[in-house]
Amino acid sequence: MRPSSPRPRRRAAPLLALLTALFSAGALRAETVDRFVLASGGVVLEVSTPASGIMRIRMGRGKLPEDASWAVSAATRAARHPLHVSRNREALQLRGAGISARINHRTLQTEVLDGNGKVLLADLAGRSALSATGGFRLRGKLAGADHVFGLGDKTGTFDRKGGAYTMWNSDAYKFNQATDPLYKSIPFFMAVGDRGQAYGVFLDNTWRSTFDFGKTERDVLAISAEGGPVDYYVMSGPAPKDVLQQYARLTGTAPLPPQWALGFQQSKWSYKTDAEVRAIAQRLRAERLPADVIYMDIDYQDRARPFTVNRNAFSDVRQLASDLRAQGLRLVLITDPHIANAPGQGYAAYDSGAAQDVFLKLPDGKYYSGDVWPGASVFPDFSRAKARRWWGDLYAGFLADGVAGFWNDMNEPSIFNVASKTMPLDVVHRIESDDFAPRSTSHAELHNVYGQLNSRATYEGVSRLQPDLRPFVLTRATYAGGQRYAATWTGDNASSWQHLKMGIHQLLNLGMSGFSFAGNDVGGYAGEHPSPELLTRWFQIGAFTPLFRAHAETNRPAQEPWVGDATHVEIRRRFIEERYRLMPYFYAAAEENSRSGIPMLRPVFLNIPQVLAKGDRLGGTEDQFMLGNDLLVAPSPTPESPGDYKVELPAKGWYDYWTGRRLAGDSESLTPDIARLPIYVRPGAIIPKQPLVQSTTATPEGALELHIYPGPDCAGEIYADDGTSLGYQRGAYLRQRIRCEESPTGVRVVFEQRKATGSRGGKRWRFMSMDQKSMLQQRVAWFWLRIWPAGRLMSKDRNRQAVMANSSSFRSEKVLGA
Ligand code: GLC
Repeated sequence: MRPSSPRPRRRAAPLLALLTALFSAGALRAETVDRFVLASGGVVLEVSTPASGIMRIRMGRGKLPEDASWAVSAATRAARHPLHVSRNREALQLRGAGISARINHRTLQTEVLDGNGKVLLADLAGRSALSATGGFRLRGKLAGADHVFGLGDKTGTFDRKGGAYTMWNSDAYKFNQATDPLYKSIPFFMAVGDRGQAYGVFLDNTWRSTFDFGKTERDVLAISAEGGPVDYYVMSGPAPKDVLQQYARLTGTAPLPPQWALGFQQSKWSYKTDAEVRAIAQRLRAERLPADVIYMDIDYQDRARPFTVNRNAFSDVRQLASDLRAQGLRLVLITDPHIANAPGQGYAAYDSGAAQDVFLKLPDGKYYSGDVWPGASVFPDFSRAKARRWWGDLYAGFLADGVAGFWNDMNEPSIFNVASKTMPLDVVHRIESDDFAPRSTSHAELHNVYGQLNSRATYEGVSRLQPDLRPFVLTRATYAGGQRYAATWTGDNASSWQHLKMGIHQLLNLGMSGFSFAGNDVGGYAGEHPSPELLTRWFQIGAFTPLFRAHAETNRPAQEPWVGDATHVEIRRRFIEERYRLMPYFYAAAEENSRSGIPMLRPVFLNIPQVLAKGDRLGGTEDQFMLGNDLLVAPSPTPESPGDYKVELPAKGWYDYWTGRRLAGDSESLTPDIARLPIYVRPGAIIPKQPLVQSTTATPEGALELHIYPGPDCAGEIYADDGTSLGYQRGAYLRQRIRCEESPTGVRVVFEQRKATGSRGGKRWRFMSMDQKSMLQQRVAWFWLRIWPAGRLMSKDRNRQAVMANSSSFRSEKVLGA
């Protein structure tokens, strides 16, 4: 066999036998190819490099599996970087850009190596991984993997090393630390060594699968699936951030969310009448609790039927949405995938779905019907482009009413009253989508991707119906790549201290699995009602997580931020306010994520891999998290305890966020105080903060503050655009990089050349060139730059350098303030 010719689009399977013979006869020369196919013992292996530092390996019995995916686009899969092939007695060497492989041509055992020839993943199984029954079990040495992260929001331990996990999307009401599987399947993980070197592995397979990180066999990685392709990618890093960028290269990044979705979101199952929703809105405003979103859960619907409204309780959704909008609040509605099985009742979603034949059927051709909130329900076949289009069009009415976003729940799919908690495996799905060959398949193949396709249908529908607005979709279940369509939350958690702590780890692992825009139900969803202390702590921490949504189940006492005594309410208010002041920082972090795949919320080692070398508990950072590059949040590792705790910082000289004080050492002993959440700032940070607003829709009145914390690599960024449209994709945004330099005479602040200009609504934005030079010479540890809101140019102050900014939210002038 010899390598295939350059850029083949389709495999020539009948040629395999001949090629194998040629190879055995030694016809191979050292040569460069764009993919490499090898066969042995009836098993075919293919290696390609879709991008620098990424190797894709596929294997099948007799022929390669179908080259199609719900996670990796056709264009990404078709891209090929050259592979240089050479051979010795035992093995084949394939060298690609930043990654290489060594294959035993008899056993097909494949070692993947980084650009320097260091082994990342040493496959032990080779062709014997394939079982005769259709499944497979890959085994490999977990080389250099002191830690393992990823696999979405699975619980267990934060570091997955030594654990084993199952991928099978499951409704996991009131889950706990030991519950597995949970709602999502994201078969991607990152192995990280104590010196910060990292690599990633993504198995693109939607079937029920398991990942064992040395639990059964020490230091052995075992990945098995009940069916579907052996199709995996190894990403060579070498830094943890590189791995996440490589994974984003494969599965895409999340779109930039509308800015309002970064505001505080208030939800409950359920606000039961429009009067109740209005009362919540009024209370938020009266209590001066900043907020941007109110959710309506299933009870707004007529008999829990998706895409209906109970007109007795919600007489006029359009009026409601518009009145809320006038108060700076947006409405998000739940729309579950189960359509009530209600023929002949004038239920439009059922009738149109039946007319278009988009509901799933059993092998006998009858609809599959399962019980969920509306009772007997039918389910769209989201793996057909046609069904997704039908689904997306169902949103036209709500969008016309001014509803701003949609919540796709129960899409594991969850089914009541059956032991499996989901639909039977023999339900027949039809695949007619993307570059898949049209075919029918069983629920066993589509189960784990059902939620992702549901949210995709919603996202694509809303995009189609409102082409210039950014959709906001929230999904509970999903699969790898689903970050392109929806934000997510960790499902039905419980109101406990343990969940508060575990929730952070879930969000961090989600962020390291492509899903940055995620949150936990603030206050806890189920179980005992939270104590005032627990609720307050949850608001404090929630305020620093990407999706900040308070939600709780039905029939519980109220859990809104104003519940409890005035001291607690005041603390919660201060933290919600702090989030709104930090909105420019949050927004820049969301924008960075949308470009790079680096999550907003990060374990400390992601920014500073050196902390791992400090030893235990990730160098003492295990219960901390970072927001963006610069803010380190350090809640107590035992949040329920009043006992002192020690905060380990990555280095000396970090700043206290609340006081600006610079720490001499690299650790601090703290006594917990319910009014405080310890936050530290990286030396070298430049953090933009804006004046307090009650909603992101309000224009901040007053200065944008640039808080400058001198130190090494001193840099920050302002990113601004109109917050809701796709104009930024056409260049209508402002990106201002700022640097600072310390010198013996003081601190110098440098505004770099702005990156983009644009026009919006025909009106040309005027971005003046920045003063590139010295801004202020002053001996202070940290200080502000202010941008005053003014639509006009202001002249330079006598003592200060003035610079102009001009964007949708800041038509203003920047002046250095002492
Ligand atoms: C599910 C959701 C929860 C929601 C409830 C009713 O349990 O996870 O958030 O409130 O359904 O729709």
